[in-house]
Amino acid sequence: MRRNIVAGNWKMNCDISQTYQLLDALKEQDITDDVSVIVAPPFTNLQSANQALLDTEILVAAQNMHQEATGAYTGEVSAAMLKSVGVEVVILGHSERRAIFGETNALLAAKVNTALENEMTIIFCFGEELSDRKAGNHFDVVRQQLQEGIFHIEKENWNNVILAYEPVWAIGTGETATPDQAQEMHHFIRNTLSEVFDTDVSQDVSILYGGSVKPGNAKEIFGKEDVDGGLIGGAALNATDFTAIINAFE
Ligand code: PGA
Repeated sequence: MRRNIVAGNWKMNCDISQTYQLLDALKEQDITDDVSVIVAPPFTNLQSANQALLDTEILVAAQNMHQEATGAYTGEVSAAMLKSVGVEVVILGHSERRAIFGETNALLAAKVNTALENEMTIIFCFGEELSDRKAGNHFDVVRQQLQEGIFHIEKENWNNVILAYEPVWAIGTGETATPDQAQEMHHFIRNTLSEVFDTDVSQDVSILYGGSVKPGNAKEIFGKEDVDGGLIGGAALNATDFTAIINAFE
C-alpha cells in the first residue's frame, strides 16, 4: 500500500559502536507516526541494529544481497541469512552497486526474484547518469532499468516493492533534482506502471526520491504529488538531520 517512507542508506559507514550511537540518538528523537522509517546499516551491524530497534517501529534493511540461496560465493550474503537475523527489507540496484560492482539489470532481476521468493520487501533503485539527462534520454534509461530489472514480477508482488528514483548525478554531490524534476520522473514512472500493469499497481506503489535530500529541501520534494518519501544517504548518518527529513511530512 502506498505510504510515506523515509529510508536511510548508511552505505559503508558506522562500525558497531557508531551504529548503537546513531540508533540511540534516533530513538531519542520525536518522529512523526505518518512515516515508515527504515535504516540500512552495513551487514555486520544488521542483527544488532534490529535488536536495538525492537521496541520501535523502525525497520532494518540490508544494502544488498546475493541471488543464490547458498554455495561457493565468497564474501556474499543470502536472503535466508538476512531473514535469520530479522531483516525483511533489502535495497537492490543502488547506483553504487551498478557502477562500482557491475550489477546489471539482468542480475538485479535475479536478485528481485530471490528477494520475493523469500518474502522480503525490496527497495528497488534506479536512475539516470548526468550524460543521459543531458542527452534527454533519462526517461528511456529509467524505463529500461525498470523493464529489465523488475517489470517481470507478478502484479501481487508489487505489494512487496518500494521504488527509489535516484538520479546518479544527484547522489552524494550536493546537487539535487529540483522538486519539479523529481515529480516529472515519478509521474512518468507511475504512468509507465499503469501502462505495463494497471492503475492499482501504479497508485499503490510508494516511489521514493534519492539524491542529496537534506532537511532544507525535503519538505518541498516530499510535497510533490507523486513523491512518497526519500532514500537518504549522507544525511541519514546524523540523527537530527534524518529526523528533520522524516518530519518534513508533518
Ligand atoms: P545522498 O545519497 O543522500 O548522500 O545523496 C543517496 C543514496 O545514495 O541513496
